[in-house]
Amino acid sequence: MRIDVVSLFPEFVAQCAGFGVVGRAVERGLLSIHGTNPRDFAEGNYRRVDDRPFGGGPGMVMLVDPLRRALASARASGDGPARVVYLSPQGARLDQAGVRRLSSLPRLVLLCGRYEGVDERLVRAEVDEEVSIGDYVLSGGELPAAVLIDAIARLQSGALNDAESAAQDSFEDGLLDCPHYTRPVEHEFGAVPDVLLSGDHARIARWRWMQALGRTADRRPDLFAGRTLSKTDIALLRE
Ligand code: ADE
Repeated sequence: MRIDVVSLFPEFVAQCAGFGVVGRAVERGLLSIHGTNPRDFAEGNYRRVDDRPFGGGPGMVMLVDPLRRALASARASGDGPARVVYLSPQGARLDQAGVRRLSSLPRLVLLCGRYEGVDERLVRAEVDEEVSIGDYVLSGGELPAAVLIDAIARLQSGALNDAESAAQDSFEDGLLDCPHYTRPVEHEFGAVPDVLLSGDHARIARWRWMQALGRTADRRPDLFAGRTLSKTDIALLRE
């Protein structure tokens, strides 16, 4: 998969992509990440990329044309069509299903705004979808782009060492993850639950599922409300 990042700070996003699972996915040739800076496509001595908003108000708005040229360059630098995603707090909130959908595409162009945002005409003309990483405001789209890249990288086939672990992630089955324990068995903070030491894989799987259900009901009633519980789920929750 190829991801182009259009940003005033493309090296920042590239840095984030240098470590851990994302770095490994890049090294393994599963993912390539490329930066395009709209300032390189701006005109005049000052290479201006923003201006004051019409109608007044605080902050600056990113100009259409440098972004348009930067997007055209990013699109042209890879093969085949790319989906253009604009990271913005006004976008649809990202979830694991959204990450999965985007991770299956061959190409993405991530557009990162700064300041108050991007001229709406550019968004309407060039952007395929607008994505938010949560209901809070960051000072630019670079961290959201890095978040999206990380979530996508771990889903590329061959990125994780244990083939199972992405399937067992939180949210993959619509639930929060169960708790995890490692050595030592006894500790002043408590003991590892007996069931995990039992060697009984069916019992362990049941316990984990029950923990995941219980945690989701407690901590994320919004997620839990959207689920249809199976008979086994109900029986487990009653235990
Ligand atoms: N840019 C600024 N805040 C953002 C957010 N919450 N999600 C995506 N892009 C953003």
